[in-house]
Amino acid sequence: MNFKEELEQRVSKVNELIRKYLPREEGKSLTMIQAMNYSMTAGGKRLRPILMEETYRLFGGTTRAIEPFMAGMEMIHTHSLIHDDLPALDNDEYRRGRKTTHVVFGEAMGILSGDALLNYAYEVLFHSFDLDPGNPAIPLALQILASKVGIYGMLGGQGVDVENDGKPLSQETLAYIYKNKTSALIEASMMTGAILAGAEDGKVRIVEKAAEKIGLAFQIQDDILDVESTQEVLGKPIHSDEKNHKTTYVTLKGLEASREEVKLLSGEALFLMDSLEEKNEFLRQLITELIDRKK
Ligand code: IPE
Ligand code: IPE
Ligand code: MG
Ligand code: MG
Ligand code: MG
Repeated sequence: MNFKEELEQRVSKVNELIRKYLPREEGKSLTMIQAMNYSMTAGGKRLRPILMEETYRLFGGTTRAIEPFMAGMEMIHTHSLIHDDLPALDNDEYRRGRKTTHVVFGEAMGILSGDALLNYAYEVLFHSFDLDPGNPAIPLALQILASKVGIYGMLGGQGVDVENDGKPLSQETLAYIYKNKTSALIEASMMTGAILAGAEDGKVRIVEKAAEKIGLAFQIQDDILDVESTQEVLGKPIHSDEKNHKTTYVTLKGLEASREEVKLLSGEALFLMDSLEEKNEFLRQLITELIDRKK
């Protein structure tokens, strides 16, 4: 099997897992559940759960406790996209090749179903206690995951991002935004994979640092694609950053320097991962392939 086929296989596995955990479309709150499932089943690269499982495998993890973590992480990420697209934030009408949740279900349902998905993610995450009773790593993994989602993570970054729309930004503030709005969920994914597999503290720190760099590279590439891709390929509108008068790595440094930075950061992430004695060739290749990703 080549890399592309292996990746497709992993995406299918994540999709299956997500389907298993999604709420049933029934009852009085049907519309909200449909709105949650609409965004969750729209596709998406499933990068975070895949990075999580591959890091789990890297450190020899074997139990099914990882499954609710994978599904829960993708739900949290999808919640962040539903809210990121709202009129009050980036005001975008397409996501994952479909009309955004608030366009289809209305703004109120966009807000509420995003909240519901975030909460439901934790309902799913707590299933890990049933699947691997007595695993002492589960509470720590939950604690780290939750903190990387909140004010000291993704939501903190999104807050600073939106309050600076239309303002010139220093490189330092931009770095804060990227580290939090994007790196934090990738750090959470890879760290929980490592922690659940029983990796020792020092190695979890190395994984955190590598994930931070993968996230920064990922966001800079997202900014590049916002300028030079197409909606057909991306499944979301291009020029969203320009529309919102955002300072990005691309507006600050230009396209060429941005491409170089993506390569540099990814190389640093690979170097850190290579410093571990544990090896996972697929994970290594995935990090490498992200450098030239087109979507
Ligand atoms: C989009 O994330 C938000 C950013 C952090 C740039 P992805 O590019 O991983 O989106 P999906 O999950 O594939 O739709
Ligand atoms: C948002 O960054 C990252 C999130 C936490 C959702 P962007 O606003 O650039 O993400 P896209 O381009 O809409 O996916
Ligand atoms: Mg945004
Ligand atoms: Mg956006
Ligand atoms: Mg973007």
